[in-house]
Amino acid sequence: MKTVTGIAPVNIAVVKYWGKRDEDLILPINDSLSCTLSTDFMCAKTTIMASPTFPTHRFWLNGKESDFNNERLNNCLTEIRKRANPKCGDLLNWKLHICSENNFPTAAGLASSAAGYAALVSTLSALYNVEGDISAIARRGSGSACRSIYGGFVRWNKGAKPGGEDSIACQIASASHWPEMRVLILVVSDDQKKYSSTSGMKQSVLTSELLKHRAEKIVPGRVDEIIKAIKLKNFEAFAKITMQDSNQFHAICLDTYPPCFYMNDVSRMIIELVHAYNDYQGATKVAYTFDAGPNACLYLLQNDVDEVASLINDIFPSNTNPKKH
Ligand code: DP6
Repeated sequence: MKTVTGIAPVNIAVVKYWGKRDEDLILPINDSLSCTLSTDFMCAKTTIMASPTFPTHRFWLNGKESDFNNERLNNCLTEIRKRANPKCGDLLNWKLHICSENNFPTAAGLASSAAGYAALVSTLSALYNVEGDISAIARRGSGSACRSIYGGFVRWNKGAKPGGEDSIACQIASASHWPEMRVLILVVSDDQKKYSSTSGMKQSVLTSELLKHRAEKIVPGRVDEIIKAIKLKNFEAFAKITMQDSNQFHAICLDTYPPCFYMNDVSRMIIELVHAYNDYQGATKVAYTFDAGPNACLYLLQNDVDEVASLINDIFPSNTNPKKH
């Protein structure tokens, strides 16, 4: 019997991935860029037991047994085994018991699949002593998972090769480059989202003209600009691009037919509050971004955390939504 445990962090995109050019290989139509959070508060944990006596593979997600015959899980396993250290020998034939857990809401638009697949793939790679970049394998579990393989500020290059070998993540800057950067996560709702990211983006690719325009004409410049802002630690530029990209992503969701509504009235109140706060300060102190759900992620610098957190506490008292984390 061999047992390995691994954890992986959540990442929150500031230039969003939305749309695939290959559904099976999970190849995106545009580059994306995110910040990986520290694992102190939010992470996914995977424990894998391999044994010559297990009759079948089994998989548990947050304590509940789930079907092992999940295509994405099996794609990750197949790809990692191709890269296994030859010294693994018989271990490669042993059946696995895999337990995955998140310490935050699953499927509420809080990047749970990203951390989950990153934890799965890094734990599998530890089991089989895989060397080198594993982001392309994590990508086979969930596109955004490839960015959770690295810490700090991470770019996912869409790549050009049909097989996706160059569709990998890379670190732009480490977390220690900009240690004052913070994220506040406002959980507006931890309900399961109505449309998954996977189905939402598929429908957007099929129906949204705005998506094509964004991928071809907007994202390349935006990625260059935000990398420049990160390198120079220019928060105002970083924040403006982050908010514009979140808004454009949700505009694409509205431009999708039939439309996907991920944000709700509380999400929109948060957007208005951030703009009002920044106007009052005479400077861009806070940036919001929303993934495929109503929950807000606010980027800000350490010095402003107390004031912004107390403002949020005043406006949304603790027994009402959003919950503070
Ligand atoms: C809005 O990575 O969850 O969070 O590749 O189909 O698993 P699949 O989608 P997923 O999509 C994430 C979309 C997003 C934006 C982002 O994280 O870049």
